[in-house]
Amino acid sequence: MKDKLIVALDVAGRKEALSLVEQLTGGVGAFKIGMQLFNSEGPGIVKEIQGLGGKVFIDLKFHDIPNTGAQAAKVITGMNAFMFNVHASGGFEMMKGVAEAAKETAERLRIKKPLVIGVTVLTSISQDVFEREVGIARPIEEQVTAWAKLAQKAGLDGVVASPREILPLRKACGPDFLIVTPGVRPLWAATNDQKRVMTPKEAVQQGADYLVVGRPITAHKNPREAAAKIIEEMEEAANA
Ligand code: C5P
Repeated sequence: MKDKLIVALDVAGRKEALSLVEQLTGGVGAFKIGMQLFNSEGPGIVKEIQGLGGKVFIDLKFHDIPNTGAQAAKVITGMNAFMFNVHASGGFEMMKGVAEAAKETAERLRIKKPLVIGVTVLTSISQDVFEREVGIARPIEEQVTAWAKLAQKAGLDGVVASPREILPLRKACGPDFLIVTPGVRPLWAATNDQKRVMTPKEAVQQGADYLVVGRPITAHKNPREAAAKIIEEMEEAANA
């Protein structure tokens, strides 16, 4: 179960990030670097985390034309990322170009291909905003499923989704398509700004492949203990 737990390193800089990695390596599956840390420290932070034995999910959510997306995918793959993501709303051609670029680059460098994950509808977007601002007059759940199917057809390995969307996604995309879910909160942790949350046990029960957890671990006085408690809860689901 520990391999399924990805810790979001949403911290300002290198010192804080590496301290967390030192405490958590071996106890969790991977570390997620988002726009904040990547842009403040540069790609060197990926190498440093890998040097400490951590696998890295590079969460930069590409959204660009197919050629730019594919070229960026080559660079990220060359960093030996464990996982990275693109917006499914960037379209089929972009996703296909990215998936192919990751595969070709990994083969050329003889490294493991990163898992390429599609971002569907951000969990911060409400139905009302989706219709009024994004301009799509369709239930979010339907659009999430449609983009997930498109991502699968384009050769992506899975999608990021809210835990509430796991069941319909599983039904639409089958057992092998990866579902990565943030918005996970153990009962003992604060929900913060996350609105639609599930416990680690529930998320595993629903069929999530990876759980992304940030503050319940990173803001805990003993991050390693918090991660161990979360893994225990995940195991309860697997053993149920
Ligand atoms: O601290 P917390 O557990 O809420 O962190 C969740 C992480 O997952 C953050 O890095 C956030 O950016 C990311 N995320 C999310 N919802 C999405 C996509 C990504 O919370 N739909």
